[in-house]
Amino acid sequence: MHVTLRQLHVFQAVARHLSFTRAAEELHLSQPAVSMQVRQLEESVGLPLFEKTGRQISLTEAGHELNHYSQNICRELDEAAEVMESMKGVNSGHLKIAVASTINYFAPRLLAAFSKIYPGIELSLLVTNRESLVQLLKENEEDLVLMGQPPEEMDLEWEPFMENPLVVIAAPDHPLVDKKNISMQELAEETFVIRETGSGTRIAIERLFDSAGLKLKKGMQMTRNEAIKQAVRAGMGVSIVSAHTIELELETGRLAILDVEGFPLIRHWHLVHRKGKRLSPAARAFREFVMENATSI
Ligand code: PGA
Repeated sequence: MHVTLRQLHVFQAVARHLSFTRAAEELHLSQPAVSMQVRQLEESVGLPLFEKTGRQISLTEAGHELNHYSQNICRELDEAAEVMESMKGVNSGHLKIAVASTINYFAPRLLAAFSKIYPGIELSLLVTNRESLVQLLKENEEDLVLMGQPPEEMDLEWEPFMENPLVVIAAPDHPLVDKKNISMQELAEETFVIRETGSGTRIAIERLFDSAGLKLKKGMQMTRNEAIKQAVRAGMGVSIVSAHTIELELETGRLAILDVEGFPLIRHWHLVHRKGKRLSPAARAFREFVMENATSI
């Protein structure tokens, strides 16, 4: 087989999007250029890699197999690049960190402090919800991921680096604000403003209500902690959020924490990567830095 890395790269993009047009967009190529690379690859392997049903394309069995090997080849190459990078020393290279949206309230401070010690490391930060982080871990795209509860079913290495207390918030004039030791039953009568499906915070809240045998009265759904806080402040319901997200609102009295039994609910933030992933020296330095400094930042 005379297969080039370029062909594999283009093939993977088409396999990922199942569209020649979208692969061409991603790679900044013309569609005929993409089709030609795939055709040449098919000629080299001697088998069709895609099939067409109407306007939709899908991978053939050979396509699926090749996709699997091609992903491994690219991963190995990335690792080789990382090892080469490591030979240049710690204070260089590029570090890709992805964090849960809720961690974004302190991640920039963490990165800023790290950058002061290692100014030569170029940092990029991706902020997204738990579901997308799980997908990134599957693709082994990032150097390190900071998230809540890592998925049990994946082959991962993780360590907790900080507590994540969840608290119940309400508008300052909510009738429950001055009440002590509110029961879960009483709380369950309130309407909750909640995060989107795929949010780690939401999963934790749903589990809590499930295990208490209570029904969660879901009100409006929002994809941002900021929007949730505004909605709660405007009296659209109560919510359960990480205490990290409400420092400012507590200082200014714009939100109140309700005194509910079992709260704060203590969860943890974890540093996560794929098992067996060869961490670059920059990634190792970041891991050490987070483990030692996260709680004091
Ligand atoms: P979220 O992350 O922003 O997806 O809610 C928090 C978590 O994973 O616990």
